[in-house]
Amino acid sequence: MKGIVLAGGSGSRLHPVTLAVSKQLMPIYDKPMIYYPLSVLMLAGVRDILVISTPVDLLLFQRLLGDGSRLGIRLSYAEQARPNGLAEAFLIGADHIGNDSVALILGDNVFHGPGFSSLLRAQAGDVKGAVLFGYRVADPHRYGVGEADDTGELISIEEKPSRPRSDRAITGLYFYDNDVIGIARELKPSPRGELEITDVNNVYLKRGLARMVELGRGFAWLDTGTHESLLAAGQFVRTLEERQGLRVACLEEIALNEGYIDAEECHRLGAELGKSPYGRYLMAIAEGAARSTASGAGPDDLVP
Ligand code: G1P
Repeated sequence: MKGIVLAGGSGSRLHPVTLAVSKQLMPIYDKPMIYYPLSVLMLAGVRDILVISTPVDLLLFQRLLGDGSRLGIRLSYAEQARPNGLAEAFLIGADHIGNDSVALILGDNVFHGPGFSSLLRAQAGDVKGAVLFGYRVADPHRYGVGEADDTGELISIEEKPSRPRSDRAITGLYFYDNDVIGIARELKPSPRGELEITDVNNVYLKRGLARMVELGRGFAWLDTGTHESLLAAGQFVRTLEERQGLRVACLEEIALNEGYIDAEECHRLGAELGKSPYGRYLMAIAEGAARSTASGAGPDDLVP
């Protein structure tokens, strides 16, 4: 499975903070926003990822993340020249996807929850059709809304309906089989002039190939679209990290746990950021990993 992070848009709801810097580079507590969606793809086992952003912002993402080799993954970059809609990602990313399935994640979506990695891997294995992730919210009219039967098969999908048929928002994480490229090529721009992801999902729904997987109670799918929600997301991450002494969406830690990098590499990456608590955390988990390798313990014992 290939991955795409879509990090475009003008971030106009967060102006003036996003006038000069892309929204997806804003901090959520101790790391840039894009770390969070990237961590989701890495937890799903995806190692070949295309980052799509605006022509002006793309260089900044490249400066931040490079070619991914430091994390044992492959990152490439492509421009979305104009905000032509989320579904344009499959046209821009067609070569990247090739004959594979694809996971698209929106660069401003933050997920956190127990067992998330196994849930993602169970779905990523053999994607047939579309797999969407539903999350109960108090304000579904702000999102794509999905209505599913008992088996998870989707019955209806509506974009920002004034009268939602369910309280399940469709989150910004989408798994598709390879047909998505052909479906995106056939799309016509919506009245607001965009290629809509909801139209892609409705094609799959008509084919009886759209499923919704529920992210249940205890999961966090956080909004970052307003100043208040951005701050709240940062406070959520801070609360978890301070309480447990573990970092959320720490890309180097995931790479270490997956065996993409070894303890020595993780330590080196930490030392480069050694003046920050994030860097010191990387050094500590690397030392923990080195100790557990020496004593023959498994990766689950990687607590610093
Ligand atoms: C987009 C999608 C919407 C989805 C949301 C998730 O909306 O169109 O279906 O629920 O992302 O973040 P936007 O954030 O572009 O308004």
